[in-house]
Amino acid sequence: MSNVRHFLDVDRLDTATLRRILDGAVTIKKNRPAYANLLAGKTLALIFEKPSTRTRVSFEVGMRQLGGNVLVLKPDDMQLGRGETIGDTARVLSRYVDAVMVRTTGEERVHELAAHASIPIINGLTDQTHPCQIMADLMTFEEHRGPIEGRVVAWTGDCNNVAVSWAHAAVRFGFEIRLACPPQYAAPPALLAWAKAEGKGRVVVTESPEDAVRGAECVITDAWASMHNTDDVDERTATLAPYQVNEALMGLAHPEALFMHCLPAHRGEEVTDGVIDGRHSVVWDEAENRLHAQKAILAWCMDALV
Ligand code: CP
Ligand code: NVA
Repeated sequence: MSNVRHFLDVDRLDTATLRRILDGAVTIKKNRPAYANLLAGKTLALIFEKPSTRTRVSFEVGMRQLGGNVLVLKPDDMQLGRGETIGDTARVLSRYVDAVMVRTTGEERVHELAAHASIPIINGLTDQTHPCQIMADLMTFEEHRGPIEGRVVAWTGDCNNVAVSWAHAAVRFGFEIRLACPPQYAAPPALLAWAKAEGKGRVVVTESPEDAVRGAECVITDAWASMHNTDDVDERTATLAPYQVNEALMGLAHPEALFMHCLPAHRGEEVTDGVIDGRHSVVWDEAENRLHAQKAILAWCMDALV
C-alpha cells in the first residue's frame, strides 16, 4: 500500500482525516498570513479536461497564498492529448511536481493517475464525484449553523457527482441526506448499498422534492445537465422541472434553512433568482470556502497540515 496522501473521494477517507482537514480549513481561513510559506518550494499541477472557473481559480490562488507554485495544464497542450498513457503521465509528473489536481471525465482516470503517481493526486471533479466541493460545503454549513452531525440536508434534482459526494459526507459525518430525484436520474444503487453497509448517517431517497425539503436545515441543488450530460439536455430539463428550488419549495424547509449550490447556477432552471439571491442563500460563502477548504486539502496531501 502506498503512503501517498491522495484526496480522491470523501468515501475513501476516514472521518478523523476529513474532520482534520475541515478544522485546518477553518484555522487557515482565520489567519492567512501565518500560512504564507506553508508550501514554499512546492509546485502543484492542475489538469483540466473540462471547463472550470471556481476550481481553477481557487486552487491556483490557494497554492500561491501558501507560498507554492502552480502549473495549469490543458490536455490538448500535453502528450496526454495525443495518446500518452495516464500511467506514464503520472510517472513523469511525479518527477517534477509535488501534487496534481485533475478534473476529468470517468473516475477511473483519476484512480489510474493515483495508481502510478508517487505524489498526491486530488480529484477536482469527475463525472461521478466532486469531493473538494463537498469539503467547502460542509465548512460553509458549519460556519453558519454549527456541527453538521445529526442534521437533515435535502438535495433536489439530478443525483449527480455533487449529490454523490454529499451522500458520502452524510455517512462519514453522521447526518441525514434526503435525495429527491426522478427515477431516471436517481441515486446509483451501489451508493445506497454502501451507505447502508456503513451504518452511519442516513441516505434517504424519494421522488418528492416536498417530502425531502420539509423541515430540512439545508437545501441543495445543481445543474439539471452536468458538463458530461450533453446528449439529453432537453429531456432532463423537462423531467427535472418539478425539482426546481423556488420560494414555495424553500418555504417548506426549516425557517432558518440554508440554500447551497456549487455553481455555476442556471437561474430560472434548477433555482429561481428569488432563492439564490434570497435570505437563505450562502452560495457566495460556499464559493469562497473552496479556497480555504482546498488550502487545507493541499496542506494535508503534502503533510504540512499542523
Ligand atoms: N463548483 C465548481 O466546481 O465550479 P467550477 O466548475 O467553476 O470549477
Ligand atoms: N454537476 C456539475 C458540477 C459543476 C461544478 C457538473 O459536473 O457539471
